[in-house]
Amino acid sequence: ASTLGASAAQSGRYFGTAVAAGRLGDGTYVGILNREFSMVTAENEMKMDATEPNPNQFTFGNGDRILNQARSQGKRVRGHTLAWHGQQPGWMQRMEGPSLRSALVNHITKVAGHYRGQLYAWDVVNEAFADGGSGGRRDSNLQRTGNDWIEVAFRTARAADPGAKLCYNDYNIDSWSAAKTQGVYRMVKDFKARGVPIDCVGLQSHFGTGIPGDYQTTIQRFGELGVDVQITELDIAGSGTQQAENYRRVTQACLSVARCGGITVWGIRDTDSWRARETPLLFDGAGNKKAAYNSVLNAL
Ligand code: XIL
Repeated sequence: ASTLGASAAQSGRYFGTAVAAGRLGDGTYVGILNREFSMVTAENEMKMDATEPNPNQFTFGNGDRILNQARSQGKRVRGHTLAWHGQQPGWMQRMEGPSLRSALVNHITKVAGHYRGQLYAWDVVNEAFADGGSGGRRDSNLQRTGNDWIEVAFRTARAADPGAKLCYNDYNIDSWSAAKTQGVYRMVKDFKARGVPIDCVGLQSHFGTGIPGDYQTTIQRFGELGVDVQITELDIAGSGTQQAENYRRVTQACLSVARCGGITVWGIRDTDSWRARETPLLFDGAGNKKAAYNSVLNAL
């Protein structure tokens, strides 16, 4: 097939991108989006600060714009994200304890409820584990409400939208040998054993100029727990043949594991990227296909 989405579909997978509502008036951007991708994630528009700028006052305009554009083109949408220490509205950053826990449950109920039945998956909880060697939770206002906050978030999301796959999403859980990966693995295993509703693990996969040698092992091992694995925010620094080879490796790793359901790149053109200076995406600033694009297309 001649596009990323159609090629991924040959093995029952999707190929997605992050979309910014502010770029939906850019014809080059929308042209590539409509042609190449079969899944969409809102880059910022469904986050907590965007959807609940004031307590219990919800704004879905930009999230709905992205959802409707994608659905009008026959694409599916991943929701990102219901619970995160980052990009919280100011009022929530200043909360703690039982009132924060209640606000979190209300947020998940209202946002997942608004999109009920319309999303392929939700990143229910984002980046809750600590970097470094502890393998434990990251300190945050949400974590300080009690260690059960993650399972409460997943149960609340399931009740609000029973049709969406519910994912735990994080970065630096790509290498199987990393303590952070092992910590997330233990949580997912525990959730599956106790019946906490979790359907997928998202590997953000923000890479520098190298891919961990045990990346495929990570995908395989999570899959063996009975959850889907999704590569949710892929971008890889570099250019030319080295970048193309790294993109090939990531694509190959996903295709080698049955439970790896799809790949999403975190933006369309290098100039759209949050890491623009590292030129980490598949299209250059003019919208031309890079070597990395051809490498992915050939590997799918
Ligand atoms: C980034 C966006 O790309 C930026 O536009 C924004 O300023 C900050 O957030 N992990 C995530 C994403 O889960 O939500 C982040 O997106 C990138 C890192």
